[in-house]
Amino acid sequence: MKQWIVFEGGEGSGKTTLMAVLKRELEERGFDVLCTREPGGVPIAEDIRAIILDPKNTELDPIAEALLFAAARRQHLVEKVLPALKKGQMVLMDRFVDSSLAYQGYARGIGVEDVRQINEFAIQGHRPDMVFLLDLDPQSGLERINANRNRLNRLDLEKVKFHEKVREGYLSLAKHHASMKVLDAKKSVEELVKEVLEELLP
Ligand code: TYD
Repeated sequence: MKQWIVFEGGEGSGKTTLMAVLKRELEERGFDVLCTREPGGVPIAEDIRAIILDPKNTELDPIAEALLFAAARRQHLVEKVLPALKKGQMVLMDRFVDSSLAYQGYARGIGVEDVRQINEFAIQGHRPDMVFLLDLDPQSGLERINANRNRLNRLDLEKVKFHEKVREGYLSLAKHHASMKVLDAKKSVEELVKEVLEELLP
């Protein structure tokens, strides 16, 4: 059984909405489901994340940023995800290592392999059973965000070009990973839920 599922995608790709509906659907089928996202209410990881997203930290070095994401990831993993898996819960997770590979490694250009290595150190071999990539063109994604909230964080403000690279990075990761499935984020939530459930529940 697939127990640990990660959702990846660019800004406004609809991960949060899809995960909320999936959680309900899975619970109706009797699964005990934990929905979480880094930093996921783990105070130490929240503090690390606050440094990364603070608009005033314009001098944050890209490698330092990648290390901070990996540190927050580690803390969330050991404090929340691994205990949930151990209890037998199904874990639906909003973003994981592939976010760092696409954003820091590929789009920010510090190198996918280097970012993979620091993340390997952070996760120590723990890997999700499956990753769903919600693929969407950045223009549509950013439009969705602007319609839904009035405050953009520092990373949202990066140019559309950057988000195009993020997308490219994700798609190239998906090409090389059998456990990463690409979904068309323009489809309706109902349709996406159906596709995911077909993968998860044989
Ligand atoms: P998040 O708050 O999860 O935003 P979203 O609702 O878009 O998922 O993430 C904030 C930003 O951090 C988002 O632009 C993606 C970026 N990010 C990275 O660059 N690297 C990472 O490893 C992670 C987890 C997120």
